[in-house]
Amino acid sequence: MGRLQKILIPFLGLVLAFWFYSARENFKPEMLKGKRVLVTGASTGIGEQMAYHLARMGSHILITARTEAKLQKVVERCRELGAASARYVSGTMEDMAFARHVVEEAHATLGGLDMLILNHVGTSYFGYFNGDVEHVRKLLDINFLSYVAMTVAALPMLKESKGSIVVVSSMAGKVGFPFTVPYSATKFALDGFFSSLRQEFHMQNIDVSITLCILGFIDTERAVRAAAEVLRVQPAPREECALRILEAGALRRRELYYRYAGTRLPLLLRDWAAELLDCLVRSRYRLRGPGPRAPAAP
Ligand SMILES: NC(=O)c1ccc[n+]([C@@H]2O[C@H](COP(=O)([O-])OP(=O)(O)OC[C@H]3O[C@@H](n4cnc5c(N)ncnc54)[C@H](OP(=O)(O)O)[C@@H]3O)[C@@H](O)[C@H]2O)c1
Repeated sequence: MGRLQKILIPFLGLVLAFWFYSARENFKPEMLKGKRVLVTGASTGIGEQMAYHLARMGSHILITARTEAKLQKVVERCRELGAASARYVSGTMEDMAFARHVVEEAHATLGGLDMLILNHVGTSYFGYFNGDVEHVRKLLDINFLSYVAMTVAALPMLKESKGSIVVVSSMAGKVGFPFTVPYSATKFALDGFFSSLRQEFHMQNIDVSITLCILGFIDTERAVRAAAEVLRVQPAPREECALRILEAGALRRRELYYRYAGTRLPLLLRDWAAELLDCLVRSRYRLRGPGPRAPAAP
C-alpha cells in the first residue's frame, strides 16, 4: 500500500500538471486584431519584429525610439503588412517627460491602449564593471525608471481596457552575469518592481496583466556585435522571439522564458545550487586576454 501511494501520488500530480497546462488557452492572431498596442524600442531588433508581427495581425500600432528615420521605415512597412494603423513618436527615454508624452500620444491618437510593450534598452558596455556610477544612473533612467513612468501614465487606459503590460527583460535580470553589471542591475530592478506590482493588482482586483519576458541570447545586431565572439551560445532568432513575446502578452502569462531550455531550466538550479549555476554561466564565456572590450551590451 505504501509503495502504491508513493507511485500513485506523483503520477496523479503529473496528470494534474498535464491537464492544467494542456487546458490553457492557445494563442490565435485574431486576439490582437484591432488592439491598440504601444511598442517601445521598435526602430530595430526585437521591437521592430514585434511591430511587423502586430501589423500582420491587424493591430493599431504606436512605436517609439530615438532614430526618426528608422521609425519612419518601420511604420511604412507596418502599413504595407496590413496594420490597422501605424504611427511613431521619436525621443529619448532618458527623459521621463518624453516617456509620459508617448503615452499621451497613445491616448490622443488611439483613444486608449490595450497593450503596453516596454522593450527599449539603453546602450551600455560589454566588459568588466568600470566603476562609472553616472553610467549606472543613466541606464537605470532608460531601462527602469522610464518603464515605471510609462506604466503609471498608461494605467488608467489599461484599467479601462482590461489590458496588458509586457516587460522585456533578460536572463541577466534573474542571474548574475559577468560583463553586463549596469545592465543586469536595471533588469533585476524590473523584476522587483513589476512582480510586486502584479501582487498588488491581484489584491486590488485590478484586471491588468503583467508579463515579464526572460530572454536568452537573441540574434539582434547590437547583441551579436557585442557578445557573439565571447559567448559560447548560439543566438535565437529575433522574429520568433518577438512572436513568443506577443503570444505571452496576449495570453496574459505571468512570465515568458525564451528559449525555454536555455533559460527556464538553468534557473531551476538558482535557489538550490547557486554556485553550480554561477560556474555554468562562467563556462559559457570564451576569454582572451583581460576580457571583452566591445562597446554595447544586449
Ligand atoms: N538581444 C538579446 O540578446 C537580448 C537578450 C536578453 C534581453 N534582451 C532585451 O530585449 C529588448 C530588446 O533588445 P534588442 O536586442 O532588440 O535591442 P536593440 O536592437 O539594441 O534595440 C534597442 C531599441 O531601443 C531603442 N533605444 C535605445 N536607447 C534608447 C533611448 N535612450 N531612448 C529610447 N529608445 C532607445 C533603440 O532605438 P534608437 O537607437 O533609435 O533609440 C532600439 O529601437 C531589450 O529590453 C533587451 O534588454 C535582448
